[in-house]
Amino acid sequence: MVSLFFLSLFQIYCLFLCTTTQARTWDEARALAEATTAQLTLDEKVGILIGKGQFGSRCVGDTGSVSRLNIPNFCMNDGPAGLRATKGGTGFPAGINAASTFSRRLMRARGVALGEEFRGKGVRVYLGPAMDIMRSPKAGRAWESFGPEPWLNGESAYETIMGIQSTGVMACAKHLIANNQEHWRYGLSADVDDRTLHEIYWWPFLRSIEADVASVMCAYNRFNQTSSCHNKGLLTNLLRKEGGFEGFVVSDWGATHDSVEENVDAGLDMEQPGDWIVIGGAVYGGSGLKDAVNEGRVDQSKLNRMVTNVLTPYYKLGQDGSYPAINFDAQKPDGSGSNNLNVVVRTDAHTALAREIAVASAVLLKNRKSGSRGLPLGQPKTVAVIGQDAKMPTHNCDMNKCNDGTMVVGWGSGSYTLENVVPPIDAITNRIGSSGVVTPSLSNNIGAAVAAARGKDVAIVFANAMSGELGLYDVVVGNMGDRNDLALWWGGGSMIEAVATVNENTIAVIHSVGPVSMSWSDHPNITGIIYAGAPGEQTGPSLVDVLWGLNPQYPSGRLPFAISDNEADYPASIVYNSDGFPTIRYTEKLLLDYRYMESEGIKPRFDFGFGLSYTTFQYFGLEISPSDTGVTVVVTIENTGAVPGTEIPQLYLGFPANAGEPPKVLRGFDEVFLQAGSSSSVTFNLNQHDLRSGPDLKTLTVLLIADDTDSIWDVPSQSWVRPSGTFTAYVGSAHSDIRLQGTF
Ligand SMILES: *[C@@H]1O[C@H](CO)[C@@H](O)[C@H](O)[C@H]1NC(C)=O
Ligand SMILES: *[C@@H]1O[C@H](CO)[C@@H](O)[C@H](O)[C@H]1NC(C)=O
Repeated sequence: MVSLFFLSLFQIYCLFLCTTTQARTWDEARALAEATTAQLTLDEKVGILIGKGQFGSRCVGDTGSVSRLNIPNFCMNDGPAGLRATKGGTGFPAGINAASTFSRRLMRARGVALGEEFRGKGVRVYLGPAMDIMRSPKAGRAWESFGPEPWLNGESAYETIMGIQSTGVMACAKHLIANNQEHWRYGLSADVDDRTLHEIYWWPFLRSIEADVASVMCAYNRFNQTSSCHNKGLLTNLLRKEGGFEGFVVSDWGATHDSVEENVDAGLDMEQPGDWIVIGGAVYGGSGLKDAVNEGRVDQSKLNRMVTNVLTPYYKLGQDGSYPAINFDAQKPDGSGSNNLNVVVRTDAHTALAREIAVASAVLLKNRKSGSRGLPLGQPKTVAVIGQDAKMPTHNCDMNKCNDGTMVVGWGSGSYTLENVVPPIDAITNRIGSSGVVTPSLSNNIGAAVAAARGKDVAIVFANAMSGELGLYDVVVGNMGDRNDLALWWGGGSMIEAVATVNENTIAVIHSVGPVSMSWSDHPNITGIIYAGAPGEQTGPSLVDVLWGLNPQYPSGRLPFAISDNEADYPASIVYNSDGFPTIRYTEKLLLDYRYMESEGIKPRFDFGFGLSYTTFQYFGLEISPSDTGVTVVVTIENTGAVPGTEIPQLYLGFPANAGEPPKVLRGFDEVFLQAGSSSSVTFNLNQHDLRSGPDLKTLTVLLIADDTDSIWDVPSQSWVRPSGTFTAYVGSAHSDIRLQGTF
């Protein structure tokens, strides 16, 4: 009785306070894993290390179980924004939208909810988060990750993993490394210098290890000429020795391009899906681990270490305790067949969260409020809703490769079933009810759009641009994974301009996977622009919340990249054409996105970190206090407008000139909700290793922490160093809206 009593008290306590507490330390888990490995036969070990085959499992990836030792098969499933290939889950906003909330609270909550749903389906490894840097704005899968800014990617990855793993589900940081375009991905070589590797592409993986990530996925592409999955410099030297990674490395599906002994020697632990690999663009059978062991090409000690690497995070997260059984069938995504128990893991709370994240990630780019024009909307009597992007998409369209309706997520393995999407037209019609008349024009036909818009109190025009995974060289609306250009699809830009010539209250809503050309944004009749990204299934209701200002905290979303009309304003593009697999040299080094634009004197149309709210904020009282352990930067922010709102203060660091860094780089952000007329102080702590903690919302004093925030990677000494000289702390509302600055 006594112990039961204490157990339940502990559990109650844990519900509120120790969601990130994990069952065991790495050392305890590794000891258990080693003891189990010692009892396994060769077949059992190989079963744990080699996937069951593309069509051999109820999950996207799977391993063999060992029932005599109670070791389950490790069901693995995509993808980063929701459950792939099964119904009953929530379609959350994409990773790029999690980034544009600039809210650690929502990033963490999204991770927790995703973890709960994956666990509920019996999935043990969530194949995410993706943290591929958006090197080119057109990169096909960049929407799965958190944009071009490495520090923002790192913080987003960290919070997501902490959330996922708090539910006992293993996360998988992907894709190691420099997986930055879809064209030629099965063999291109990304050649990156050591400093750029550390400060840009490796950075989010390092933060993932700090979040105790269970697994890492090696990429399809080669890195510095050697395939990522047989790259010892990457998998052993960088990941394990330098990074201290304790979990297992799993190949991307088919990405083991070389002999099994080369892969094992490099540090690969698990091969997926197990029955095919890609060599030079052609597909072959699996790599034959068992034969390699029997023939002495792979020795037992290495095999044991691989098995132990897989079992260690399993014990660390307590997956040897009770865990839901697999209850879906990824081979039958429509829910048919006896293996699909059609378990519903979506909850009202998850639906509400998906909606809140979509609202918080919507970026208000322009607002010309005067009288009944602009945002938030009052009570318009006549409303035109225009564009194919406002309507329901086909929801059983082979991993979302249709783009025939509203865009909520890209295509490929990171997509999910769309049956729960609430499209904008439904939500807006519902909101207007009997108080007015909605005139829909749900195609991109310009004549019809203009006719619908003419004479209406407001015309809300929707347009999108999409991208996705290369897969089997899939082409969607002429785009093979990566986008061809920065234009809106289906003539969306021309349609917005045409509507604006006849309606003085034109509101543009953009759904996109990344930056798009907005040459029309200054048009005087365009009174509002909302960049809504890839907002997930609750797209319609979230837009109503933003358009009418129904939630006093929002809009507060910020751009996780700079938007420029011209591709040439970005430092890197996609290599589309090549005579065989290309070598891509990352000669732009540290200068991606806003960092490049600032150093070249390019003014983007909308800068990184930019986003409006329905109120205004003033910054004052900057104090910078250096100490032995770091630097504390404090500012006070006041809501100077008439309504409540959330400000997203950002800290950018300017390094001493001799450090060779971009002019200023993001090193802190926060969300501060303030009633009209009230103010609060915000504290940014730089380089306080031991004070890493989340926001303390009670006092509204927020600590923004990360390791090495004022360090750079020094190649000769192979270490992070803090350069000497004068640093500048810039605090503001966007990268090019710095309100206060000071030096230390
Ligand atoms: C990749 O190769 C280049 C030479 O081609 C070298 O300068 C660079 O340091 C290598 N990168 C790493 C991370 O070792
Ligand atoms: C703005 O809309 C009005 C119609 O309401 C139109 O007369 C005017 O020409 C438009 N302005 C521009 C610049 O297109």
